[in-house]
Amino acid sequence: MISPLDEVSALIEQRTGLSVATRFRNDLQHILNEVAGNDLAGLCMALRQSPVSSPQWQAVVQALTIGETYFFRDASMFRLLRSQVLLPLIKQRREAHSLEINIWCAGCATGEEPYSLAITLLETLPDLNRWTIRLIGTDINAAALEQAQAGLYRDWAFRHCPAHIRQRYFEINQGEWRIRPEVCRMVTFQQANLLDQPPLPNCDLILCRNVLIYVARGYMGQVETSMYNVLAPGGWLILGPSEAMRTHRERWITHVFNDAIFYQKSPRPQPTPVTRRHTPHAPARAADDALRAAAEQYHKALTAVHNDQPDEAERLLVELLSNQPDHAQARTLLAFIFASRQALPEAHAHLDAALRSNSLLSDAHYLRATLYLEAGEDKMAEQALRAALYCQRDHPLATFLIGSVYARTGDLLRAQRAWAAAQSIAEALKPEARISDLSDMTVATFATLVQAQLDSLQG
Ligand SMILES: C[S@@+](CC[C@H](N)C(=O)[O-])C[C@H]1O[C@@H](n2cnc3c(N)ncnc32)[C@H](O)[C@@H]1O
Repeated sequence: MISPLDEVSALIEQRTGLSVATRFRNDLQHILNEVAGNDLAGLCMALRQSPVSSPQWQAVVQALTIGETYFFRDASMFRLLRSQVLLPLIKQRREAHSLEINIWCAGCATGEEPYSLAITLLETLPDLNRWTIRLIGTDINAAALEQAQAGLYRDWAFRHCPAHIRQRYFEINQGEWRIRPEVCRMVTFQQANLLDQPPLPNCDLILCRNVLIYVARGYMGQVETSMYNVLAPGGWLILGPSEAMRTHRERWITHVFNDAIFYQKSPRPQPTPVTRRHTPHAPARAADDALRAAAEQYHKALTAVHNDQPDEAERLLVELLSNQPDHAQARTLLAFIFASRQALPEAHAHLDAALRSNSLLSDAHYLRATLYLEAGEDKMAEQALRAALYCQRDHPLATFLIGSVYARTGDLLRAQRAWAAAQSIAEALKPEARISDLSDMTVATFATLVQAQLDSLQG
């Protein structure tokens, strides 16, 4: 018989698309029991009979979603958005004498993101009053949107916002900051679920950042397709800095910058190249407490990976990276998850970022080597493995793999030496331990695998 918890979870996923399956079961039970006053069967019945805008549903939505956001979140993304998307689009529209831009900010929480966009447009368009700008922010959480509409913010919402922007576009109001009317009237807010019909046709730009990580795997395709369809030809979709397109990746032009990946709908049907561009990188500093919290979060993500819960691991890593963008291990683990899904440009982009933060991270070099090997680029793989071994002489997987590369090129003597070295490395480790963060294998299994390779040389 299906339990009340499973019944409510299934209903939530079906009606909202929110991924409840990726939450650890105990957390979920606790959250829902709080909302339900321990009567899950009663909650389930009430939810079945009411729309998502009802108080019962909103209580569930508020308990399950995280509305973390702030003004100009990811400064480098906003710089890229202006230089790579808005300025060319504005130029194009001026040339076509069509002064219109449609922007949808999906999952906008308390409004900081669409208001940041409105401010960017105000700063970019001196003749803004001649333009028709449709800028709409949507979210499933009605309480968050009420706050967005009120336009009142505390200092914390400006933690990465340049001081002059706050000075220019906000006024102080009893200890809070009120957004000025000229910015406020540029944005419309609407309660909407990502599974609903998009709120605006012919979008030039969709921002859906740090939202898809909450969407259940089974609905991902539906959401991504709905966004693809509502984009005008040549329109842009920007996800969160650690998120990647999950379905139909081939239909997008993927622009890989140093600090972000932007997806573009082709102006007309054509092959979809991956472009790689470079922008200056701004390193971030972290306080000790934050580093400790990051270490714990990384450990949780690792556990999720090893429990075969990649979506949960991704959610945890995205959260971690939004606070600690320079966490090279987290980037590497995220790259590993993307690589397992064949999201290779994103996997490479995260490895680039990981190695920019810590060029001596052996696991990042090792993972890169595996990507090169899969692509048949043996020479590049060998270089990456050498880099991994330069960073960590006794990296077991890199030692083993470089042996396999030698064997592939017929250099059996070096292969034998590398595998023997891998065997010695394994002997020094506990047999039941995991061989690496980036593998499911125990040391014992790894040792058996190495032995089999050595035996094959004898035969
Ligand atoms: C972490 S916030 C992101 C806010 C903002 N985009 C940013 O990156 O700063 C995620 C938001 O997505 C919203 N959300 C999650 N699932 C949603 C869904 N299925 N439909 C609409 N909004 C959703 C949540 O309510 C929450 O406000």
